[in-house]
Amino acid sequence: MDKKRLAAEHAADRIQDGMIVGLGTGSTAYWAIQKLGQRVREGLRIRGVPTSEHSKQLAVELGIPLVNLADVEQVDVTIDGADEIDPDFHLIKGGGGALFREKMVAQHSKTVIIIADDSKLVERLGAFPLPVEVVPFGWEITAKRIERLGCTAALRRAANGDVFATDNGNRILDCRFGRIEAPASLHQTLKMLTGVVETGLFPHEADHVVIGTADGVVQKDRHAHPRAES
Ligand code: A5P
Repeated sequence: MDKKRLAAEHAADRIQDGMIVGLGTGSTAYWAIQKLGQRVREGLRIRGVPTSEHSKQLAVELGIPLVNLADVEQVDVTIDGADEIDPDFHLIKGGGGALFREKMVAQHSKTVIIIADDSKLVERLGAFPLPVEVVPFGWEITAKRIERLGCTAALRRAANGDVFATDNGNRILDCRFGRIEAPASLHQTLKMLTGVVETGLFPHEADHVVIGTADGVVQKDRHAHPRAES
């Protein structure tokens, strides 16, 4: 089976009756939502909180009941993908542009399970350009200020060449920092810049990482990998 699908289905099988489930975004989360849709058709009672319009549409098509994030006390479990995962559970997310809603949902969740194939495991974050969501007004100025932190920032475009717009009507700057030695502090520095809405650095959110490999699924739990503060 496809490695992403393997990890996704392993995580989706942990979901129990009555749970409120954060529905991630991307090609790995797609398989988790598919599996949850199948389980709902078989009788599982859950409510989903989508992290993007795309995942919302998929969940609706599959008959997964949905609820607004603001209408729940907490999300029980969120299952979402990642672009890079380091040994300390720091993540880069946002390859699909949904990083803001993904972070909102993750931070409102009791448990976050990250699902990925083994190509996403890295020793240090940064080979994948860091997505940063910025407001359209003055984005060029925001990009220059970000570049002063030591990267090149490219405005993301859709496949048809149009400027990419997030579900929140913002822009994405894909920022090439190279090796990111201190993810948490870089995240904080970026967040202080006016114009930055959110960054794709998720230094604290992941509780479990489920990796699909050629030999099956490997699960890592945060308590076994104490977070190195950066
Ligand atoms: C969406 O904005 C992202 O954060 C995705 O979760 C991430 O890019 C992983 O995507 P894939 O599962 O498609 O690799």
